[in-house]
Amino acid sequence: MKAIPRYESALMSMSPSEASTRAEQLRSELHRHNHLYYVEARQEISDAEFDALLRELQQIEAQFPDLLTPDSPTQRVGGAPIEGFTQIKHTVPMMSLDNTYSEQELVAFFQRLQKSLGRERIPCVIEPKVDGVAISIRYENGVLKHGATRGDGQTGDDVTHNLKTIKSLPLRLPKEAPQNFEVRGEVFMTKANFAKLNEEREGAGEARFANPRNSTAGTLKLLDPKTVAKRPLDIVFYGLADVTGIAIESQSEMHRLLQTAGLRKADLIWHKDSAEGLLEAIRELDEKRRSLPYETDGAVIKVDAFLDQRELGSTSKAPRWAIAYKYQPEQAETKLLSMDIQVGRTGALTPVARLTPVFLSGSTVSNATLHNFEEIERKDIRVGDTVVIEKAGEIIPAVVMVKKELRTGEEQPIQPPTHCPICDTAVHRDEEQVVIRCPNPSCPEVVKRRLEHFVCRGAMDISGLGESVVAQLVEAKLVKDAADLYQLNELLLARLERMGTKSIDNLLKALEVSKQQDPWRLVFGLGILHVGAGGARKLLEHFGSIDAIASASVEELTQCPDIGAIVAPSIHAWFHDEANLTLLQRLRSAGLTFVQRAVQATSDRLKGTTWVITGTLSQERESMADIIRSHGGKVSGSVSGKTSFLLAGDEAGSKLDNATKLGVKIVTEPEFRDMIGG
Ligand code: IVH
Repeated sequence: MKAIPRYESALMSMSPSEASTRAEQLRSELHRHNHLYYVEARQEISDAEFDALLRELQQIEAQFPDLLTPDSPTQRVGGAPIEGFTQIKHTVPMMSLDNTYSEQELVAFFQRLQKSLGRERIPCVIEPKVDGVAISIRYENGVLKHGATRGDGQTGDDVTHNLKTIKSLPLRLPKEAPQNFEVRGEVFMTKANFAKLNEEREGAGEARFANPRNSTAGTLKLLDPKTVAKRPLDIVFYGLADVTGIAIESQSEMHRLLQTAGLRKADLIWHKDSAEGLLEAIRELDEKRRSLPYETDGAVIKVDAFLDQRELGSTSKAPRWAIAYKYQPEQAETKLLSMDIQVGRTGALTPVARLTPVFLSGSTVSNATLHNFEEIERKDIRVGDTVVIEKAGEIIPAVVMVKKELRTGEEQPIQPPTHCPICDTAVHRDEEQVVIRCPNPSCPEVVKRRLEHFVCRGAMDISGLGESVVAQLVEAKLVKDAADLYQLNELLLARLERMGTKSIDNLLKALEVSKQQDPWRLVFGLGILHVGAGGARKLLEHFGSIDAIASASVEELTQCPDIGAIVAPSIHAWFHDEANLTLLQRLRSAGLTFVQRAVQATSDRLKGTTWVITGTLSQERESMADIIRSHGGKVSGSVSGKTSFLLAGDEAGSKLDNATKLGVKIVTEPEFRDMIGG
């Protein structure tokens, strides 16, 4: 389909037939994005872009009511339920909210309230709009009965098992709380957990999630709660449904009820009763929201008193007593100077935009992702274009749109590559035709990426082998795989630029030392698709040696904790590939460690204690964890009531905050060294 311009509306001058074509185009585009978002848990356009398309369609349908079809995306609330989950019917439908990006429209909303209720002052509450996934949870006789996603607003997917992995979610309510109700909230992944998950996915050769909401939706959709538990989710609540028999009369009273029930409510709440007050609150929230642990994309403004809410009523989709005020994502305009293609470890070719440097959300940006070539075509992005880039939270900036009105005619269209820009092998497209890959396992760029991964800190941790040395080794044809690294000698290394005797000596020593690395590091370093550092550790804990992993059946592999239905076949296939087996054999001959050594008990000074590690320390986290274990301590990934100590290095983040809140003792590295006897 031809790319359709966004943020543009030539509505006023549209003929009925133009309007009909445009409406059809918008409907099919919106359906496609809805499906991507709700069913595939991914996103190609920002929320603001989606809203702009939806609004344009609403405007057309308002002006040409004949064009309104019952299946129009403007007529539905959510997305289609996912196959594979049982469906749950919501006792009260889950509605959506009208939203606005303008302060003026927010004032108009308040004026409508004043008019309808015939009063000047109308008490409202303002809460952050948490950018996660809407959930409805039912408690019966004080026990969590089930929880479901919004689905189409009437019926959602039963995700109870996945919700039960959320530590802050009570499975049983305290006696003093009402025992039967349905409660509505938002499931989210904290920014810190999101960053960690993406790091792990990158390590396992998997695609990064674009934002915390996508990763939350993707996580809730998983059928295996074991995997879900490894991706910590959290929840905040903002509303009640089915309040029969519960004596509450306002949103503020509901906040108190949530407190009594031990259900987490919004971290920031304002009470205002005038239009000026609302504006004050949304501006304050904009200043504070970046320090919240979760991503927020706006504020939700609700009339406080249920009596007023009932009087105002609802339309078929949204209540008249509430509105979402959304913050504009931070954007900047700049020039697209050129497009480069990055070749990844799996051969994936990713287009990257080189930009005239521009300041955006606290940093200077000169590169942005173009996602994939389909996206370039859909948005009609050309070299020389003035483009709008956007950065939401800590996400890599992306090109969101082209300023076509600024074109001079000199702009050059971008063609998807037919051959790898590095080795000239004809490219492969995946089934959905989105990812273009270089299929050549000897492509020098693929080889470099694989070697960089093999030697990186989280894998074999071989210092002295930075990007430039790896590049030189590959270009000089001295190394084409990991086993070749162990054939290097002084003579060969002396051929490289800027390699003095000292660097050569250090590198050869580092390679020698790496032969003693734990075998899980080797398994991780091999870059088996879907096997991250955590998975590799579990494999060795379970099987004890690389040979045992290699000879395990898919079924035996799934017996290993954390190895599920997707990872097991990937491991099995890797160990049944001739070329991989030859590589393993050569690594074995070079003297690398294939059998797991038991952790040597050094002392029992830390016996009975549970530790969480955070921030930058003198050694990497896993090595610190091994030290703790060798002194009899336990190591856990997150701070809870059971944590005895937090070992905190520099730039400690949310774990430090949590530990402080829970009164967990915080220990610096020197203090820790003292505790274990230096
Ligand atoms: S109140 C009748 N409060 O935003 C719907 N919603 O576009 C009442 N959301 O579906 C919703 N934070 O998933 C409300 N503090 C908050 C919220 C919130 C996030 C989500 C929710 C809702 C969507 C509306």
